Amino acid sequence: MGDNEFVVVANRLPVDKVGDHYEVSPGGLVAALAPVLRAREGCWVGWPGTIGETLEPFEFGGISLLPVALDKDDFEGFYEGFSNSALWPLYHDLIVQPEYNQAWWDRYVAVNRKFAEATAKAAAKDATVWVQDYQLQLVPGMLKALRPDVTIGFFLHIPFPAPALFQQLPWRDEILEGLKGCDLIGFQRHTDEDNFRLLTEEIRSGTFPISIDSGEIAAATNEQVEALRSAVGSPKHLLLGVDRLDYTKGILQRLLAIESLLEEGKLSDIAFVQIATPSRERIEHYRTTRKQVEEAIGRINGRFGEVGRPIVHYVHRSVPKEHLGTFYAAADIMLVTPFKDGMNLVAKEYVAAHPDADGALVLSEFAGAAVELDQAYLCNPFDLESVKEAILEATDPDPARMRHMHDWVMEHDVAAWAKSFLEEL
Ligand code: ADP
Ligand code: G6P
Repeated sequence: MGDNEFVVVANRLPVDKVGDHYEVSPGGLVAALAPVLRAREGCWVGWPGTIGETLEPFEFGGISLLPVALDKDDFEGFYEGFSNSALWPLYHDLIVQPEYNQAWWDRYVAVNRKFAEATAKAAAKDATVWVQDYQLQLVPGMLKALRPDVTIGFFLHIPFPAPALFQQLPWRDEILEGLKGCDLIGFQRHTDEDNFRLLTEEIRSGTFPISIDSGEIAAATNEQVEALRSAVGSPKHLLLGVDRLDYTKGILQRLLAIESLLEEGKLSDIAFVQIATPSRERIEHYRTTRKQVEEAIGRINGRFGEVGRPIVHYVHRSVPKEHLGTFYAAADIMLVTPFKDGMNLVAKEYVAAHPDADGALVLSEFAGAAVELDQAYLCNPFDLESVKEAILEATDPDPARMRHMHDWVMEHDVAAWAKSFLEEL
């Protein structure tokens, strides 16, 4: 037993150890939860992103971190295998085919046990423990067995599939048993919660759409915005995409929509900046996606760019938050076109970066964010014409729509999200 009254358990710590320094970890889960933990006393149990290295507990950015070590077999079987080659595609409605493999499942069980044991040691008597996401669905059950005194919440950051899909999973009963160890399970959308409740009504559940630290989106000066716009050739319309390079995000689809609009002469004088964080790079479908995206970028620039003035500006790196704020502020049109997404915080970050109600958001109907940001230019990424239409509409946006969304995001921030979940718990 430890002395932490409040413990967050997530596969990733908010920082990754890279060589001898730390970098902010990728993804929306960390972006959302880090400010929550900074505001509340507590600790964070998670993996520091290294393989085969045991780290002592440490403090970073005002948060107390308890590292869980993964070895090479854990990384391949639990992380790349079961979590990201079985659960991730299954829960995102089979955008690619999931692979079900017994050895990966065994590692998933073993690593979930590691997390449960580390948490059992860290939590004070009667503590509140908040377990996060699809990588750790067995932790609630395991932890309840080790520490019946603690109160356990679980939040799923990604979609929960329809029962007909979930039932493909050879270990569906074990997953449900694991989740039943929690006192409250939270989902992003009502449809996710409904899907889950069709499988079991034994756990208390709720829908809690996650958000961002809205007040902290880095403001950009006019000079920064002008410098960026001029660096990309001062186009009439600056389009932007910001994503982890993941096949769920529909990056290729937005490129194809732009290409088709250029070809038809319906769009001109544009620049498109695509910032893509490298992600899960050894997994085959991620490699294929990267290849297709980079090929399309090369082709579009070859067909429509000029020397010294490409159409697509591509950054395959993570970008510091303060620079991201300038990109958001400078972009006339933000393209968020996932085939399926739990929430998509990038959409909310863009809206938060437009207090003057300029700019336009093109948003997939299949992103959780579309429930709240229904004033966006909505599109169906499976239908290229629909993406093209939304882009064209967004070239002449109605400021009232952005104002409405901006007000919503400023009020419904991540602190409100955490408060609503924890109060319900
Ligand atoms: P996901 O969690 O699937 O990656 P989200 O859109 O919910 O998708 O969250 C992504 C988070 O990562 C956002 O906070 C966004 O600002 C950040 N992000 C995405 N791409 C980059 C990048 N290239 N550089 C820095 N931050 C990024
Ligand atoms: C999504 C998931 C998170 C995950 C993040 C980054 O946001 O919901 O659980 O941490 O992507 O993915 P990675 O595999 O790099 O942790």
